[in-house]
Amino acid sequence: MILTPSIHYTGVLNPNMRVFDIIMRTEYGTSYNSYAVLGSEKTALIEAAHLSFGDNYLENVQQALNGRSPDYLVLNHCEPDHTGAVARLLSAYPNLTILVSRAGALYMKGILNNPSAPIRVVNDGEEIDLGGKTLKFISAPFLHWPDSMFTYVKEEKALFTCDFLGSHYCEPEVWDTRIHYTDAYFNSVKLYYDCIFGPFPGYVQKGLEKMASLDVDFAFTSHGPILTRAGELQTILDLYRGYCAEKKPIQKQIPVFYCSAYGNTGLLAGAIKEGILSVLPQANVPLYNVIEHDMATLQGLLNQSDAFVLGSPTLNRDALAPMWLLLSGVDAINIPKRPAALFGSYGWSGEAIPALESRLKTLKVNLFEEGFRVVLVPSAEDLSSAFAFGARFAQSL
Ligand code: FEO
Repeated sequence: MILTPSIHYTGVLNPNMRVFDIIMRTEYGTSYNSYAVLGSEKTALIEAAHLSFGDNYLENVQQALNGRSPDYLVLNHCEPDHTGAVARLLSAYPNLTILVSRAGALYMKGILNNPSAPIRVVNDGEEIDLGGKTLKFISAPFLHWPDSMFTYVKEEKALFTCDFLGSHYCEPEVWDTRIHYTDAYFNSVKLYYDCIFGPFPGYVQKGLEKMASLDVDFAFTSHGPILTRAGELQTILDLYRGYCAEKKPIQKQIPVFYCSAYGNTGLLAGAIKEGILSVLPQANVPLYNVIEHDMATLQGLLNQSDAFVLGSPTLNRDALAPMWLLLSGVDAINIPKRPAALFGSYGWSGEAIPALESRLKTLKVNLFEEGFRVVLVPSAEDLSSAFAFGARFAQSL
């Protein structure tokens, strides 16, 4: 598909995807965007595709190049949704050179397992002339992997941003001026930002600053609509500016997440909440029975908390599965040193608390005391102890 006379779309639409990377909801599908940049002398492909779409990707490349061979494959970031099909591409075009950042070279070696793979590291600011079209590589680390970079083609005012400014959203046409369900699109932009860039607000700011120094009419993303000056580009930039500058509420956020098979751990949750509020009456201490809420929302609340409390009964010598699911969405970059406390009712041996403790230690949170446990139904005395446990936790904050 021709986007501009020298930039063609080689990407693949996947409107049926509903879960990305095992954990991320994609209600509106996604696209694996990739591009061919055609210079008068040389050609470059930018991004590849997921392995499962290798055939479609190769067909699109052949069509875009119209008999020419690619000289370069630029990988702005090497996560397998963009690189799974690279081995296939190399088999078809063994003479192309893969251009990646220094960190990207390490990842591609691990992905291709081919010591003779033609990988070349490009540095921040380096340029490659394709003949009337210039690729300029701009380091953009942690947007969202250490290897991430942008590629700029000044002659087209085109910035290839990879995941940055993208979305898991798919419509039949890839331009932002052709979006039919704008509310759905903007919802997916926010979810994507939270999941992919939420842990890296400082790097997002730097990325936006780098973009501000460039003349950009097109942001060629690697997922979702292509952004244009005439379409949503400025809106998305403004949203990103707002997202990464979001201030935390002044009120302390101390959510209590729990599961409760027979209501006993739930009773403890309530008593611990009251204990926390007795010391910090202004704090926000919401109770969440995790099976009654959207897990991604709970994970976001945990990640934005000032401190948090987890409660689980014991089943099969372990914490309950929803608690592990909750912790699977923890922002491991920003969670270290966050104060956390554990509690739970149990019947036989109570392994849930030590199991969660072990996981939280791996995450390097500040664990408060030994987890608070009671056997089966909490007595009035147990509830009073749970209240005191919550109060001591609040005093420690
Ligand atoms: Fe779309 Fe981070 O890969």
